[in-house]
Amino acid sequence: MVTQHEKVALVTGANRGIGKEIARQLCQRGYAVFMAVRDIPMGRSAAEELCGEGHEAFYLQMDVTDPVSIKHAVGTFSQKADHLDVLINNAGILEDSGDDITKLNTERLERTMKTNVTGPILVIQDFLPYLQKSPSGARIINVSSGAGALHSMSTYAPSYSISKTALNAVTRQFAGALQGQNIAVNCVDPGWVQTDMGGSQASRPVEKGAEPIVWLATEAPLTETGKFWKDRQVISW
Ligand SMILES: NC(=O)c1ccc[n+]([C@@H]2O[C@H](COP(=O)([O-])OP(=O)(O)OC[C@H]3O[C@@H](n4cnc5c(N)ncnc54)[C@H](OP(=O)(O)O)[C@@H]3O)[C@@H](O)[C@H]2O)c1
Repeated sequence: MVTQHEKVALVTGANRGIGKEIARQLCQRGYAVFMAVRDIPMGRSAAEELCGEGHEAFYLQMDVTDPVSIKHAVGTFSQKADHLDVLINNAGILEDSGDDITKLNTERLERTMKTNVTGPILVIQDFLPYLQKSPSGARIINVSSGAGALHSMSTYAPSYSISKTALNAVTRQFAGALQGQNIAVNCVDPGWVQTDMGGSQASRPVEKGAEPIVWLATEAPLTETGKFWKDRQVISW
């Protein structure tokens, strides 16, 4: 079985926040979108919402901290699609905005690294055979943060910030490893966005947070790889 739409995308953490809006905007651009979520009722409801708007959306159960769950998701995906054009590693946690590195809770650091760094590595590894089958070239986007930029880093949210710097390094590593395979790998800072994570005081509505990510995933030249982006511009690490 194959999807009705030729172009196929997968977004992790797509049941709410920026991920759900990325899924919506990709659907609006003619993609069949797989919404990877860890909570089945929330995922079903998010996918039904997009289907109700006339789009082709599916939910996939996936906890990015659980390698078995990622492999199951690949199995479910393979029953509906034979290739993947766009992979967006969006799922992430921020649990330590008030933490102090001198008293760092390493359990929290490990949990954050598992979700924000190891998770994207495993998801890319397991979906790589499908990305390699993309007829027009594939794009992987890792949703990073300005908090991970070393040039401006200070004391904010140490576990989260360290994890996003590491995610940027993951981006460089995969971009290098996949060079010449027609697969671009980039990371992006969405800015401060009104979601559960960003809070209601954030400067950007979720549509504005998702838009540059979707641009990078669909319109940016495939030759652009291994870079850190914000608002369609390359920014410094
Ligand atoms: N909002 C901002 O201002 C901002 C700024 C810079 C970067 N970002 C980045 O943007 C991305 C999305 O953030 P957001 O603001 O939309 O956050 P959010 O509203 O808190 O949503 C986070 C999403 O990640 C999912 N998730 C967390 N752990 C997961 C796991 N183990 N497996 C699968 N899914 C998991 C959540 O699923 P559940 O519903 O199951 O928890 C949820 O769907 C994150 O990577 C974040 O670091 C956000």
